[in-house]
Amino acid sequence: MALKKFLYHRPALAESIAQGLTGEGLIDYSSGLFLAAPRRTGKSTFLRQDLMPLCEQRGWEAVYVDLWTNRQEDPGYLIERSVMAALKRHEPQLKRLLKAAGVRRISLERTLHWDLERDSLPEGASLAEAFEALQVASGRMIVMIVDEAQHALNTDAGINAMFALKAARDALNLGGDSPGLRLILTGSSRDKLAMLVLSRDQPFFGSSVTPFPLLGEDFAEAYTADLNSKLAPGNLFDAKDVYAAFQRVGHRPELLGEVVRRVALELGQAPDLGKLMARGAAEVQHGLWAEYESAYGVLTPLQRAILRVMADAAASREPLAMFSDATVARINAIERAEGGKGAVKPQSIQAGLDALREKSLVWRSGRGAYALEDSGFGDWLLAT
Ligand SMILES: Nc1ncnc2c1ncn2[C@@H]1O[C@H](COP(=O)(O)OP(=O)(O)OP(=O)(O)O)[C@@H](O)[C@H]1O
Ligand SMILES: [Mg+2]
Repeated sequence: MALKKFLYHRPALAESIAQGLTGEGLIDYSSGLFLAAPRRTGKSTFLRQDLMPLCEQRGWEAVYVDLWTNRQEDPGYLIERSVMAALKRHEPQLKRLLKAAGVRRISLERTLHWDLERDSLPEGASLAEAFEALQVASGRMIVMIVDEAQHALNTDAGINAMFALKAARDALNLGGDSPGLRLILTGSSRDKLAMLVLSRDQPFFGSSVTPFPLLGEDFAEAYTADLNSKLAPGNLFDAKDVYAAFQRVGHRPELLGEVVRRVALELGQAPDLGKLMARGAAEVQHGLWAEYESAYGVLTPLQRAILRVMADAAASREPLAMFSDATVARINAIERAEGGKGAVKPQSIQAGLDALREKSLVWRSGRGAYALEDSGFGDWLLAT
């Protein structure tokens, strides 16, 4: 289908992020950039197709890891592996350094003797040492991109890896004239990503989550032009209709593709493409919401109440104290409204949370904080 080949580049967005990374411009991401956007909205595509090439162009060393590609693997190991692979690419320079006189920094001495055939760090070595070696070997600023970073929160090892990243950032950014290390962490769940920055015991406490700008009208225009180039003149798509459909399906290119596929089936018969687009988008959106509706329909009043309280907290971007008196009171009120008895105790909330986790509606971090598994569910709850 058209969508497979069509790729819309976002150079201006990449440029503004790059400026933020250097800390020269209006915005300063030099202590870390936390980007969140819903699933399937084009985060990874942007990182790999636009941002990483720009980093290269600017003479920076971009290292990318997606913590979701292999969910069984410990996130700490995945991060190490990506850094070791980058070091391996710079092996010739490392060898040269080994021979050169004058490199006598103890920490670097050690790393020069690492076995680069391995994909994890040697025993007792730190991520900071690895980044430092990479920085010296490449002579460049390093941009570490951790895609789906919220997965690190699932395990202690993952949380440790985040602390190690932070330590590496601090170590490399201290030296006044060294190029330094920049971190970009992205996630498809704002609530989960926020846990890395919201609470005091998390590594990036004090930073904030930036919403990743969704693809917009300019995307719809370019997509429409691409579609129309394959159609006979006289029966063409209007960019306004395409954009309206795109908004309706949550700014997700694949779903827009699905709308277009539906429309394509009826093309010969109905001349009004605008109406067909609107109907197709409504059907696709309806399908999405029907899923939420049926999932919600089978929940107990208590489970519904817990979800609603969580959706509210997420919308107001407040950390949620799940078992506080205030929360218990609110859950009771909603539970009653949903047909329950209003006798909810903290223990029953715990059981309700466990049941919701079982259904993959709620997620629990390694440290016991809770978030909605799918923030789209929260949006739907707030809208109904
Ligand atoms: N700029 C773009 N131009 C054209 N198609 C795009 C663009 N960005 C994303 N897409 C398409 O949208 C789909 C989702 O993209 P991508 O995997 O980058 O999103 P994501 O936000 O990283 O998703 P996930 O939440 O699964 O990680 C893919 O099929 C991709 O080809
Ligand atoms: Mg992705």
